[in-house]
Amino acid sequence: MPVQIILGAQWGDEGKGKIVDHLSEHVDIVARYQGGANAGHTVVLPPGKGKPEKEYVLHLIPSGIFHPRVTCVIGNGVVLDPVALMTEIKQLKNAGIKVAGRLLISHNAHLIMPYHKMLDAARERGEEKIGTTGRGIGPAYIDKYMRTGIRVVDLLNRDTLCKKLKRNIESNNELLNKLYHSQSLNVEEIINEYQEFDRKLDEYITDTSEYLNNALKRKKRILAEGAQGALLDVDHGTYPFVTSSNPTSGGACTGLGIPPTAITSIVGIVKAYSTRVGNGPFPTELNNETGELLRKTGGEYGATTGRPRRCGWLDAESLRYSIRVNGIQKIAITKLDVLDEFKEIRVCTEFKVGGKKLTHYPTDSQTLDAVEPVYRTFKGWQTKTSGIRSYGKLPKEAKTYIEALGKILGTTIWMVSVGARRDQTLIVR
Ligand code: GDP
Ligand code: IMO
Ligand code: MG
Repeated sequence: MPVQIILGAQWGDEGKGKIVDHLSEHVDIVARYQGGANAGHTVVLPPGKGKPEKEYVLHLIPSGIFHPRVTCVIGNGVVLDPVALMTEIKQLKNAGIKVAGRLLISHNAHLIMPYHKMLDAARERGEEKIGTTGRGIGPAYIDKYMRTGIRVVDLLNRDTLCKKLKRNIESNNELLNKLYHSQSLNVEEIINEYQEFDRKLDEYITDTSEYLNNALKRKKRILAEGAQGALLDVDHGTYPFVTSSNPTSGGACTGLGIPPTAITSIVGIVKAYSTRVGNGPFPTELNNETGELLRKTGGEYGATTGRPRRCGWLDAESLRYSIRVNGIQKIAITKLDVLDEFKEIRVCTEFKVGGKKLTHYPTDSQTLDAVEPVYRTFKGWQTKTSGIRSYGKLPKEAKTYIEALGKILGTTIWMVSVGARRDQTLIVR
């Protein structure tokens, strides 16, 4: 510490929520730095005090919220959907989890407006469909970079808000009209609705960059939680089939307003196989019974949209690229238990094109679509691992697989997760 970045090293849904919750026991602050309610981070709390095990899916609130000592921060890099946030706060409150006094929202975060979701859906009707989550993410970041976005701080001034809102609706009027007959977008209604959000969210809004930098001076331990994954990064991912922000480690500094010198550790979360939701290249995808078995055993359905996730073998070539662009120093492997039943487990170690080994990671989608993955096959352990509580007790074949992965990826494997609960986490010694 002081700042440890936890990010997805693949195409999202690696189990960031589980690992961030697990690590939150030892930190003071957990801060989300990018993305919006497109994220779905699952945390499963163990049974206790007569209560059964409970699963929560967080979209905006950092996964440290289940540890009462932890303060959660939504940074300036996040695009904030107040509707989704209010729902999430309510759900947590109803479950007896205190949010007041423990959640801080950046006054510089951009807001998702109702028309962002409409524009997102409209673009998805076109031929160049990305398969977005439909949460208005792309259009909100377009406004941010066009310098026409509406930020949390704008909620304070009704006149400015009204002016900006009118301008933004008018500039998109043609498309909105064509698709939605935009009379349904009533500026006054939106203003009243968003000012009501402002009243409700006022207690959480602050200069989070200042808060985090003061916390750094006081030697507080901060965990920066990424959403999505490095291969969905708008700069480094499989463009254009990406999200509209920077889940990669650099995004943590710009998305939180903290200096790069504060970052002391970068951890990549890696699922023991690969999944992807939406369109785009996926070299190791399995459109067969094995892929189906991974989906069924791993419960691979989107935590936000419920869509079936595309499944395939682990792709070490893409992961080495991800390790490089993020500067990942250690890895947490999740969902190892999902491979328990498999007789054989494969890992793609390199790509070939036309029989020739690729020496440079292709970031254009066409080339990535055309690569032939070269696999190394491992013997499965065919033993249940979800009840195992120490790394040493894993079956021999599972340890061989993990240790070989460390070598193939050229990095340290720090943790192995064998189930969705906190206690199903093994430290590799
Ligand atoms: P995130 O977006 O990276 O936080 O991941 P998601 O929550 O979208 O998807 C991960 C899913 O796998 C969730 O349903 C988790 O509860 C579950 N999960 C996380 N770690 C493990 C694990 O080690 N084993 C199993 N079986 N499930 C896990
Ligand atoms: P977490 O944080 C997996 C994918 C979408 C789509 C692309 C662009 O739970 O890992 P967007 O709505 O962001 O414009 O969609 O990115 N995507 C995710 N896939 N996990 C996520 O979040 C994702 N967030 C976006 O499916 O392909
Ligand atoms: Mg998810």
